[in-house]
Amino acid sequence: MRFAPIALLGASLVLGVGGVQAAPEDDLMAFRNFYEQRFPDTPFDDFANGIYSIDKSRREEWEQMEEFPQYEFDIDAGEELFHEPFANGKSLADCFPDYESGVRQNYPHWDRELGEVVTMEWAINRCREQHDEKPLEYYKGPLAQISAYLAFLSRGKIIDVKIPTDDPRALAAYEDGKRFYYSRRGQLNFSCASCHVGAPGMLLRAELLGPALGQVSHFPVYRKTWGEITTLHRSYAACSRQLRAAAFKAQSREYRNLEFFHTYMSNGIPFNGPGSRH
Ligand code: HEC
Repeated sequence: MRFAPIALLGASLVLGVGGVQAAPEDDLMAFRNFYEQRFPDTPFDDFANGIYSIDKSRREEWEQMEEFPQYEFDIDAGEELFHEPFANGKSLADCFPDYESGVRQNYPHWDRELGEVVTMEWAINRCREQHDEKPLEYYKGPLAQISAYLAFLSRGKIIDVKIPTDDPRALAAYEDGKRFYYSRRGQLNFSCASCHVGAPGMLLRAELLGPALGQVSHFPVYRKTWGEITTLHRSYAACSRQLRAAAFKAQSREYRNLEFFHTYMSNGIPFNGPGSRH
């Protein structure tokens, strides 16, 4: 029963779910306070560094990785892809006119017209489709490289997701993402929160469980064990499989709503993607 120690801790949930709904701002304060108390030696901005914000020896190894980061190649490839003309002569740059000053920090956002949460990767593929190009695969490869380029241009911008209170559909999308994070599923009956809220800093086999605060800031990520640059939704899917639960499709409404909640919970933390991970 290798999961047993964590299952015991999964009960401490921080945010109530299922009962009276708290306003998103109250959720955010409770979430932040929880991690600040749990890891008093970690400066708030440093949660942007995932597990390396809470573990000294892994941090040293990571700092070495960051001296010659593998993702540099991906940033360059992403830049080229971003400017590569479509068959109609336009390019992604036409859909993101402000890209040079950084657009990553505008995502995810609630789009009133669509009635959907729009993530950056989804917006990239929507742009391609509007120009009669095929959508790119969401987990890795060219799309992750374009995402790395745009993340790089937004380094240092602060996460500031807005949940518009005058649109009940936006609040519903937020609540949906929150419910996802806290719902137990799969054969192990774990939630995302069981590990990342209930047990950050603990070991799961040889892996250190990272805090949910700041978990989104550094994507896309070059993951050494996977040997390539990969997107946030691939981590969502990989962790769903850890639960022995079926993964949803990348950029499904479920995962976009999850990203909406998950990123909102990191409001105030700087974007620092792309990142390297073990
Ligand atoms: C059984 C424990 C466990 C559960 C449950 C779990 N994860 Fe993870 N998750 C991990 C481990 C281990 C890692 C790798 C170490 C780290 O960064 O936390 C990880 C990494 C991640 C990362 C990448 C972090 C980074 O800095 O690169 C994200 C994002 C993530 N998980 C999201 C989720 C979401 C969303 C769920 C729910 C669907 C979830 N996790 C459920 C164990 C878990």
